[in-house]
Amino acid sequence: MFFRNKAAVVTGGAGFIGSHLVDRLLEEGAEKVTVLDNFVGGSRKNLEHLENDGRLKVVEGDIRNQETVKELIQNADFVFNEAASKLVVSLKDPRTDVMTNVVGTFNVLEAARDSDARIVHASTGSVFGSSEQPMPENHAKNPSTIYGISKLAGEKYCMHFAKEFGLKVSVLRYFHVYGPRQDYSGEAGVVSIFLSRVLNKKPPVIFSGGNQIRCFTYVADDVDATLLLAKEKKAIGEDYNVASKARVSINELAGMAIDKYAEDKSMKPIYGKARSGENMKPIPDTAKIEALGFKAKLSFEKGLELTKKWVAEQEGK
Ligand SMILES: NC(=O)c1ccc[n+]([C@@H]2O[C@H](COP(=O)([O-])OP(=O)(O)OC[C@H]3O[C@@H](n4cnc5c(N)ncnc54)[C@H](O)[C@@H]3O)[C@@H](O)[C@H]2O)c1
Repeated sequence: MFFRNKAAVVTGGAGFIGSHLVDRLLEEGAEKVTVLDNFVGGSRKNLEHLENDGRLKVVEGDIRNQETVKELIQNADFVFNEAASKLVVSLKDPRTDVMTNVVGTFNVLEAARDSDARIVHASTGSVFGSSEQPMPENHAKNPSTIYGISKLAGEKYCMHFAKEFGLKVSVLRYFHVYGPRQDYSGEAGVVSIFLSRVLNKKPPVIFSGGNQIRCFTYVADDVDATLLLAKEKKAIGEDYNVASKARVSINELAGMAIDKYAEDKSMKPIYGKARSGENMKPIPDTAKIEALGFKAKLSFEKGLELTKKWVAEQEGK
């Protein structure tokens, strides 16, 4: 009950990871949880089960708006900065990406300078680029996408504000998160996309060859890691990678989805073209967060089953 009597703000709290974080904060006794979301990616449905919980306040607003952010953050004990413009958006609309991921993050940090809030900022493995070896936190950062660049800038601002202004902020880099509530209507969320296709008797579509490796991490494990950093004083001013030990290629994922869940087991994936900026082996070294006590709890098989159950519900299967 670490969050008892505490007020938390979750930007992007109607999104995939943010909404699971909101659940956990309330479970862990938070007195007030305020969600700031403009619903460009998230959904009210992700929070509808909390409709009658008076501790939750949902503010439809924009992280790019300095005043909105300032007003919400001034009395917060904890801020979880989950709002972001996605990788796929950055390909079509780079300006929205920069304004959300850089200026939005800057707004959060600037607002928190006038408060005593503890901040955990969500970043991404996309800041690194690819490597043959697992990448520790101090590995060279060579992002290959506009999204990776803007997320790296956000991280840099966090570390700068911690060092120069004593802000109590930690950076947490997620890698390939999957699970219930991940939007699979677009091009992101490959686990749910493949599951929904297979359940609808359509073959998975594989881009860039399918040999790219993903260390899929179930959303509850990433929420664990996020809360761990919020609780841990040692994590202030530090950056962390977080991922499970799963190493699954996209070809293997397609095979698993077909073997486990397709009615027609002879179904074959379709191969599409290569995608720009695709990282083939974005594998992190996670020793630093493990030294704080993090351990991913769920096996990929179990997580896949839970995700399939959710996708099947969405699809009326
Ligand atoms: N899902 C992954 O695999 C993954 C991997 C690495 C990093 N991340 C990071 O984790 C965080 C959460 O990602 P997610 O997967 O839950 O994505 P998501 O799109 O489901 O959630 C992001 C939320 O931010 C909101 N948002 C976007 N622009 C906004 C704005 N201008 N103002 C207010 N709200 C805005 C969206 O509506 C959405 O609800 C992001 O920072 C993302 O970069 C995710």
